[in-house]
Amino acid sequence: MNWEKLTFSYTKTNTIILSHYKNGEWGPLESRRDDNISISALSASLHYGIQAFEGLKAYRGKDEKIRLFRPYENAKRLRRSADYLGIASPDQDMFVEACKRVVLENIEFLPPYEYRASMYIRPFVIGVGAQIDLVSPNEVLFIVAAIPIGSFTGSINRPAKVLLAQDHDRAAPMGTGSYKLGGNYAAAIVAGVNAKKEGYSSVLYLDSSKREYIDEFSSSNFFAIKGNSYITPDSESVLPSITNNSLMQLAKDDGMSIERRRIKLEELETFEEVGACGTAIVILPVSRIDDKLNNKSYMIGDPVTTGKMCLFLYKKLTGIQFGEEKDIHNWCLAVEK
Ligand SMILES: Cc1ncc(COP(=O)(O)O)c(C=O)c1O
Repeated sequence: MNWEKLTFSYTKTNTIILSHYKNGEWGPLESRRDDNISISALSASLHYGIQAFEGLKAYRGKDEKIRLFRPYENAKRLRRSADYLGIASPDQDMFVEACKRVVLENIEFLPPYEYRASMYIRPFVIGVGAQIDLVSPNEVLFIVAAIPIGSFTGSINRPAKVLLAQDHDRAAPMGTGSYKLGGNYAAAIVAGVNAKKEGYSSVLYLDSSKREYIDEFSSSNFFAIKGNSYITPDSESVLPSITNNSLMQLAKDDGMSIERRRIKLEELETFEEVGACGTAIVILPVSRIDDKLNNKSYMIGDPVTTGKMCLFLYKKLTGIQFGEEKDIHNWCLAVEK
């Protein structure tokens, strides 16, 4: 593998792990070399969007140990999303066992420590079985795939500009924004691609009822630093990010106060730092947010130098993930044969 050239794109690896839920129970976890699956063309996942997914990473540490970061949190979140759809989901032990197994069976795709790249793990559930009626399917596939991805390490040193969503919303109030369902991403993909063409790294969404308060970015949570505070939106339409939750803990450990509250768009002007955070990117420092509807740009911090809290939190979190920092919260789970 050319580890340096890895980005966030698909590479076929050795196996995927699969289990079939039918007649009220999960079948055994199976390894499949073929990543093509055969399902009914009338599956509810294909017609009604009955699917939920997760994303986490495996890291090869400085000590050569392999670590998963907080996989039980992803297991809980998958169950929460699947429950929303009314479909079966694996329990936490089955979820974690499948994640460990997919790493071990694809071990040669796990990047060496020195590249600071990782293996992205994509667990998901899809409703299968022929149906046209609008009911939750009682047949489900649980699949876990593993894909080597790049380090994104350059991103932490390059403050980015993002675009404020102007002509569409991602999630309705009391809608599906806080669940990890494909439909949320379908609603935002074209806008994201178009924003990238214009040189933006991401799209920032506001609350869709009044468009007054900040929600989150298309695939990451929002946080800001002001004085000694770590501030992040309190909104029912954002995904409960495991990265954001971890950063809040690390900020708290460092003596910062945590403010989880509604954040007005205009407050952007008062922040010293803004970051987008999520599993893939870890932290993307944001120095400019363009509101094209109102012909306004919000500038935050220095346009070329990453703020010190973003840098501190990034180093601390990735340090824990790569076994360089003490894992005082026991977030990492070792993967051993
Ligand atoms: C919409 C959205 N928000 C936030 C996140 C970050 O969540 P996490 O830190 O659990 O990866 C993601 C990434 O999965 C996302 O897609």
